[in-house]
Amino acid sequence: MHSFSPLCRTAIEAARIAGNLLRDGFGTSFSISSKKVRHDLVTEFDVRSEKAIISYITDKYPDHTFLAEESGASGIADTSGSSIRWVIDPLDGTVNFAHGVPVFAVSIAAEVNGKLACGVIYHPLLDELFVTEKGRGSWLNGKQIHVSATLTLSESFLVTGFPYSVSNNPSDCIDHFYRFLKLGLPIRRLGSAALDLAYTAAGRFDGFWEVELSPWDVAAGILLVEEAGGKVTQYSGEGYSLSDKTIVATNGIIHDEIIEVLR
Ligand code: IPD
Ligand code: CA
Ligand code: CA
Repeated sequence: MHSFSPLCRTAIEAARIAGNLLRDGFGTSFSISSKKVRHDLVTEFDVRSEKAIISYITDKYPDHTFLAEESGASGIADTSGSSIRWVIDPLDGTVNFAHGVPVFAVSIAAEVNGKLACGVIYHPLLDELFVTEKGRGSWLNGKQIHVSATLTLSESFLVTGFPYSVSNNPSDCIDHFYRFLKLGLPIRRLGSAALDLAYTAAGRFDGFWEVELSPWDVAAGILLVEEAGGKVTQYSGEGYSLSDKTIVATNGIIHDEIIEVLR
């Protein structure tokens, strides 16, 4: 088994604690409410998972900061040394979770001085733990994973997602989806961007595209795909940074072909 740094082992532990909480809560009755958009839900488990993750990490590292979906930015940075920020989605796939659909994950990434250093995505119901560390590859339950070797878009199996604002067609997302459908390709929509990226890293999907994602949806997944040998950019082909509006992640080989469709 590959050995990870203390920072990464903390992310793994926190993801397991949160994942156990979600596994126990899944299928029980719990409170659900809407955020700004009607279908953008938050359950009591989003909040409980996030609190558990932040409290576990803060106990170990009191001077780290956080960017987490439900509580936003928090923590007091230690300005004397390197700055470490955790980017957390405590429950990615909330709509699935709220409806009893068993497709959701915990996503935790750590940035050191603004650069992604490690990432963990945990699917608690399948006990699948995806872990990556900068320069040390991507791993699933202790085995190294790689992106697929699929050579062309026409042979590809793709995954995408839609933002809660889909009816406004941001970045022409409906038109793009139509274009891929017209190519007759098999396309999935899992409802968890973190799992979309983790599965692309593991070679289960050849490529993923989506718009309007937030840093916590993608932080761990980007590093997983890159360290598995894949490529992540904006639709323009330029490098992706956590606040960008469009994302494409692929095995690298079909990247330009996907971008061609998204132009
Ligand atoms: C959502 C999921 C979904 C994506 C949405 C995200 P949430 O996150 O990742 O796959 O299409 O855009 O907001 O709300 O389940 O944490
Ligand atoms: Ca999310
Ligand atoms: Ca979430």
